[in-house]
Amino acid sequence: MMWFLRLSSILVLTGIVESYKILLISPLLGKSHAILGDGIAKHLANAGHEVTYITAMPGNLSYKGRNIKKIDVSQNLDIMKATGGKLSIQYHIENKDQNADIKFFFNVFLENAKMTLSNEAVQDLLNDKSQHFDVIVAEWMFNEVYAGFAAVYDCPLIWFSTMEPHWMVLRLIDEATNPAYSIEVLSKHLSTPLSFSQRLEALFERMYIYYLFQTFVHDKDEEIYNKYMVPHINSQKYTSLDILRYNASLILGNSHVSLGEASSLPQSYKAIGGYHIDRDVKPLPDNIKKIMDDANNGVIYFSMGSNIKSRDFPEELKQKLLKFLGGLKQTVIWKFEEELPNRPSNVHIVSWAPQQSILAHPNCVLFISHGGLLSITEAIHFGVPLVGIPVFADQFTNVERAVNKGFAKKVLITLNLAEDLKEQVVNILNDPKYTAKVKELSFIYHDRPVTPGAELVFWVEHVVKTRGAPHLRSPALHVPFYQKLYLDLLALILILALLAVFLIVKIFSAFFGQSSITINNKKLN
Ligand SMILES: *[C@@H]1O[C@H](CO)[C@@H](O)[C@H](O)[C@H]1NC(C)=O
Ligand SMILES: *[C@@H]1O[C@H](CO)[C@@H](O)[C@H](O)[C@H]1NC(C)=O
Repeated sequence: MMWFLRLSSILVLTGIVESYKILLISPLLGKSHAILGDGIAKHLANAGHEVTYITAMPGNLSYKGRNIKKIDVSQNLDIMKATGGKLSIQYHIENKDQNADIKFFFNVFLENAKMTLSNEAVQDLLNDKSQHFDVIVAEWMFNEVYAGFAAVYDCPLIWFSTMEPHWMVLRLIDEATNPAYSIEVLSKHLSTPLSFSQRLEALFERMYIYYLFQTFVHDKDEEIYNKYMVPHINSQKYTSLDILRYNASLILGNSHVSLGEASSLPQSYKAIGGYHIDRDVKPLPDNIKKIMDDANNGVIYFSMGSNIKSRDFPEELKQKLLKFLGGLKQTVIWKFEEELPNRPSNVHIVSWAPQQSILAHPNCVLFISHGGLLSITEAIHFGVPLVGIPVFADQFTNVERAVNKGFAKKVLITLNLAEDLKEQVVNILNDPKYTAKVKELSFIYHDRPVTPGAELVFWVEHVVKTRGAPHLRSPALHVPFYQKLYLDLLALILILALLAVFLIVKIFSAFFGQSSITINNKKLN
């Protein structure tokens, strides 16, 4: 054993580590998903591994080296064009039907999976019989068909979850969390603690989503799997998707307790939130640096993320926002794709913004954001309080959580946005408690035994070294629901009780039945 330890420490010290072949699948439409996928690819490549990376935004990855081989599925972006404006602000100002949204999301991600797997480049990869991988890392986004890659390459699977740990991913490695205290990730208004009626609502919401996913998504997933992956699986290794999806070794989660809830998590869930942020902040471009250095009253950074475009803002709303921002004494940097006429002198519009470098500047006093998880992570990383304007997906729960933690305010996306925003911006700027709170959370966020990037690499290597890390698997995974709730015991007790009642009635009637009937008969006579 000693020689082994010595040998491995020599290998580590000399920088000679075994290089693994890793297949990374993160083919989603959004910029934020690409940032998260790129982050994983870079950490693994920098650790000396060979990464084959299926990505929809290959042009965005800044990496100089040979360890990442990109497989371009940018055709997936066509789905974005076909979403019929459902990702626009206008749509969300007018639409309030949440269930329609959920079906819509499920469909988009199914379509995305189908386009990814049917893509010629991916089919070429699958057809190449000389190809092998040591581990698969696949992004989970309301879709589980990529679990099929583990069967194709006969190797362990790691799910990557971009959101806070929630029941839909935890059920894959352990069990679904209890809806009484864990909110649906797509919920638009619930937050813990729940009242009686909210708990009922949470339960029904859970049942609805469970039903929809179990019927609609599972069937379609299996279809896609059978059509595009099964032909590439060695027939002796064929396993149904319903087994594969529950056979992952780990979930790497883009979460951290400073950002979310202190929920109990299985051993095979590893929180690596914040890994996408570079340790060294990139310097600001000269024009933005000058604006920020000169801002004596501080800078407010306003960005609605990458999915919501300025052209989607109603004209009247743009004018009202400009008027409100112009009335502030702070300098405003607004990420917006178009220059606006009559722009007040304290408002600067940039079509592209180095968000992390702006938030890192000591003069940045407030972040107005759509509340995407990456933006909230960066707000905490750099310690900047936030006004959140959630628009869709997990943004509602993210912002709600930030408000509960005490470093943010929420504003709804309505035509009254400018007025509501004004109230909350003034609230935060005039009360130091929000900044104090975010600095406190920032300390908790940074105070970890290792950096999230190092943790990511460690666990991926651990899975390969231990052939799928079976020792981390939760015993709850294969215990059916009725056994967990002891419904079988309940059934047994009910049967015994019924049996007892039945016997007692029988005995009574055997002993007294005859006479009581005669008594009655006598009376009647
Ligand atoms: C990111 O990728 C998309 C799609 O490939 C492209 O339109 C965009 O210009 C890229 N952005 C950058 C900064 O490279
Ligand atoms: C489940 O995963 C383990 C570890 O990666 C692997 O050894 C096993 O073959 C997989 N089971 C199935 C049914 O694919």
